Amino acid sequence: MTELERKQDRTPVPKEWAYAPAPESRDVVTLDDRYGHYVGGKWLEPSETYTTISPATEEPLAEVGQATPEEVEAAVSAARDAFENGWSGIPAAERAKYLFRIARILQERAREFAVLESLNGGKPIKESRDVDLPLAAAHFFYYAGWADKLEYAFPNRRPQPVGVAGQIIPWNFPLLMLSWKIAPALAAGNTVVLKPAETTPLSALLFADVLRQAELPPGVVNIVTGDGRTGAALVKSEGVDKIAFTGSTDVGKAIQRELAGTGKKLTLELGGKAANIIFDDAALDQAVEGIINGIYFNQGHVCCAGSRLLVQESIYEPVVEKLKRRLTTLRVGDPLDKNTDVGAINSKEQLERIRELVESGEQEGAEIYQPPCRLPEKGYWFAPTVFTNVAQSYRIAQEEIFGPVLSILTFRTPEEAVEKANNTPYGLSAGVWTEKGSRILWMAERLRAGVVWANTFNRFDPSSPFGGYKESGFGREGGRHGLEPYMQFDGSQPSGG
Ligand code: NAI
Ligand code: MG
Repeated sequence: MTELERKQDRTPVPKEWAYAPAPESRDVVTLDDRYGHYVGGKWLEPSETYTTISPATEEPLAEVGQATPEEVEAAVSAARDAFENGWSGIPAAERAKYLFRIARILQERAREFAVLESLNGGKPIKESRDVDLPLAAAHFFYYAGWADKLEYAFPNRRPQPVGVAGQIIPWNFPLLMLSWKIAPALAAGNTVVLKPAETTPLSALLFADVLRQAELPPGVVNIVTGDGRTGAALVKSEGVDKIAFTGSTDVGKAIQRELAGTGKKLTLELGGKAANIIFDDAALDQAVEGIINGIYFNQGHVCCAGSRLLVQESIYEPVVEKLKRRLTTLRVGDPLDKNTDVGAINSKEQLERIRELVESGEQEGAEIYQPPCRLPEKGYWFAPTVFTNVAQSYRIAQEEIFGPVLSILTFRTPEEAVEKANNTPYGLSAGVWTEKGSRILWMAERLRAGVVWANTFNRFDPSSPFGGYKESGFGREGGRHGLEPYMQFDGSQPSGG
């Protein structure tokens, strides 16, 4: 026996090949017991509060403010003051410096923010660490670069800021959506009142500390927390010149009605029901990874999620088989464990919405598959789910589920794929998997979706504009396009959307 063989002989063989726990430390985050609203560079004592929790454990994390219309007004007037008395007048290169500082501080504090994001929102640390944080910093870096080049971005149009921007964001990518909204607004010379979603206020509140570190002048960014009532007060406020909203289509429509005729600018980024289309010449294993990433990334709480899988009939069986096999390897559980693939559902309300739609799918006749997995007892959880035998008319093929639930349909020809993909009130994103470049172009031309991914899915870059058609909203975020809603041009008046 060689030395090596003898050594191997003595090495104990594990009884079970399971991942050992790999918990990220919570110690990098220090939470206050209670948070106010960040107004004019100071903390305003809130008149009402509620408790924000960890959706993975239902553990209370902190008390945060539920801003009243008066408190919203205080934030709006702080933003107005800052706009008129300084921010819009300082040299653009100075504005850029602040944005660069914010970007660098986010990088420096990335671990702290990633842990907080996973704690308050339930998303796997792997994703908040590798996706949310790098992209949030990238957005600030990217728009920092534009701040002193607006004249070149929009030649001969004399771009001017709009004024005070009211920004209402959702809970699926709290810090990233904050960055998508704040970075272009500041680059263009506006000031901001931001309202994070009620279930995930903590990263926005920690961001106020980044603003302090960056020495951003008081009032340039104000943060008020609270639920839809706070959002509605911000929309109604007369001191606001522009509203940017990301969230549900129903609330988006209500905001549009509210703003009609007011002259306030509006951009809406609403839901989606994206088709992820797999042709029979696609690299199947790669496509299966793309399907997994398309729908189980961030528990499916993604507006552009590939929630409708369209598979060419000739490869239906191998795709479904590979997909089910891959599903059994997804690790569901503690968001702060570095091995976790699928974390907690963001809230009880969202879990109920997912359950209700999944039940409707079963009742309408679709066949459900969930891999065997043990879900934690406390907290809000939903197993990764696949539906086969889905008809186009079923609710699970029409409505946004916003959870880890995939509906599979089939098609025979490219024409049929386009028709089925476009048969939805939404139009945010789509995916095409094929070896043929010509087919990618042919499909991309016909798909009514703001983003079409080819042989990939859920890829984001600050330089690439993002936004929808139809009920997915209007206006673009990201890229040079993302600056436009935050500016007015020579001779033009602000216009509603
Ligand atoms: P929501 O649209 O109610 O919430 C999004 C944001 O809007 C939150 O900050 C909320 O406080 C605020 N808000 C709520 N009512 C408002 C009002 N009347 N005026 C102004 N602001 C208001 O979305 P919710 O209830 O959290 O989720 C419902 C569904 O919406 C989800 O199941 C999903 O389908 C969709 N959704 C889509 C998102 C996207 O990224 N496009 C993000 C969040 C939800
Ligand atoms: Mg709602």
